[in-house]
Amino acid sequence: MMLAFARPTMVGAIWPSSRHLAQAMAQGADGARRIVELGAGTGAITQALCERHPHTPTTVVELQPELADQLRQRFSGMTVLQAPAHEVLEAWPEGEEPVVVVSSLPFRSLPPPWRDGTSRAIEHFLRAQPERRLIQYTYQPRAPFDLQLGESLVWRKRTVVWRNAPPAWVWELGAG
Ligand SMILES: C[S@@+](CC[C@H](N)C(=O)[O-])C[C@H]1O[C@@H](n2cnc3c(N)ncnc32)[C@H](O)[C@@H]1O
Repeated sequence: MMLAFARPTMVGAIWPSSRHLAQAMAQGADGARRIVELGAGTGAITQALCERHPHTPTTVVELQPELADQLRQRFSGMTVLQAPAHEVLEAWPEGEEPVVVVSSLPFRSLPPPWRDGTSRAIEHFLRAQPERRLIQYTYQPRAPFDLQLGESLVWRKRTVVWRNAPPAWVWELGAG
């Protein structure tokens, strides 16, 4: 299914993630006691999370109401929130760790206020607990976003997935 939306900068992709990319992203969440997926879109990565982590409580976040409704119907065992990612992270309760954030948010195309507000919320979220980490893909071999809050977090390149259109780099952001 093609991702055809009114605001392409908020979507950042024409095609859903391939099975290979989805599996690489889900593998990045190994060891999580709780998963938060940001920008789930059509659910390609959600499906892979479901298959690889069937017993890990997962919260799925998607901004677009129609997509959130579809995700809610398809993944009845998961909590689906129709909300901006930064609001969910800012309201996250203390509790089970490690939490792994798995994100498809298109940081390189988001409007700057959205990009900066969301990436800052992610940094605050990860810095609150050293076991937390972010798994994020990009379509370029450069880090998904520039860190704003100092260097206590470090980007690590996990893998390149060639079998995706376009090829994708999978990154991890966590304690240095
Ligand atoms: C690249 S697409 C997701 C692709 C997804 N991996 C797939 O295969 O369908 C990015 C998604 O992030 C959502 N999004 C963008 N900004 C968001 C935000 N601030 N909070 C939550 N979702 C957001 C968009 O609505 C879009 O569905």
